[in-house]
Amino acid sequence: MSEPQRPDLRQAATILSDASSITVLTGAGVSAESGVPTFRGAGGLWRGRRAAELATPGAFERDPEEVWAFYRWRLELLAGVEPNPGHRALAELERRCDGFWLITQNVDGLHRKAGSVNVIEIHGTLAESRCTACGFRQPSAELPEAGLPTCPRCAELMRPAVVWFGEALPEHAMAAAREAIRRCEVMLVVGTSGVVEPAASFALRARTGGARVVEVNLEPTPLSRVADVSVLGPAGEVLPALLG
Ligand code: OAD
Repeated sequence: MSEPQRPDLRQAATILSDASSITVLTGAGVSAESGVPTFRGAGGLWRGRRAAELATPGAFERDPEEVWAFYRWRLELLAGVEPNPGHRALAELERRCDGFWLITQNVDGLHRKAGSVNVIEIHGTLAESRCTACGFRQPSAELPEAGLPTCPRCAELMRPAVVWFGEALPEHAMAAAREAIRRCEVMLVVGTSGVVEPAASFALRARTGGARVVEVNLEPTPLSRVADVSVLGPAGEVLPALLG
C-alpha cells in the first residue's frame, strides 16, 4: 500500500506481529484479485443467475445439467487462475507463526497453491467430486468434459464435493475450525461478507474466547463491529503490507 503510516494498518500489523497463534478466516474476496468472482456484489452472476441460486441441493435435483454447466464453468475458470499476493502473504504468515490455522469458505484451492499448509476447507473443494449415492470421490479433473458425470463404481450421478446452501458442513472440518478458533490469540478475517453461517459467527466466537480480531475487506461488514481494527482495502495489497 502506498500509505505505510495509516494508523489502521500500523495497529493491525502490531496485533499480528505480537501474536504467537493466528487463525485466519477467508472468503471469496481474497481470491477476487486472482479473477475468481465473488458471490455477492458485482460479478457474482453466471448467465444472469446468482451463484447462490445454483449452489443448492434443490437446484441440483431440479436441473443437474444446469448446475453441472455452472460448475464446469467454474472449474474451467479455476484452471486458469493463480494465487495473488494476498494468498502468498497468508502462506508467509504461516511460516512466521508457531500456531497457525487457515479456515476458508473458498473452494478454489488457491491457498494451498500459494503454499499454505494448515488449511481447513469448511465448504469443501471443487478439486474433487463425489458420488451422490455411494460417496466415492474422484478428482474433478478426471470427469468427462460433457454430459452428466456418473460414478465409476456405481454409475449414479456425481456432484461437486462442495457444501451447498442448506447442507451440513463436514464434521471433521467444523471440529478443526472450532479448535483453531479456541486456540488462537488473533483472528484475521479476510474478504468475507460475514453473512453466511456458521463462518459469520467465528470472529465473535474468537473474540468471546479472548482473541483479538483484525478484519481486511474492501468495505465495512457486519464483522467490523466485532473487530479490534478493520483495514479497508484490497487483500492483495493490504496483506503484504501487514507483513511489512
Ligand atoms: P461474498 O461474495 O459474500 O463476499 C465477498 C467479500 O469480499 C465482500 O465483503 C467484499 O467486500 C469483499 N471483497 C471483494 N473483493 C475484495 C478484495 N479484493 N479484497 C478484500 N475484500 C474483498 O463471499 P463470502 O463471504 O466468501 O457458500 O461468501 C460466503 C459463502 O457464501 C461462500 O462460501 C458461498 C457463498 O454462497 C457456499 O457456496 C456454501
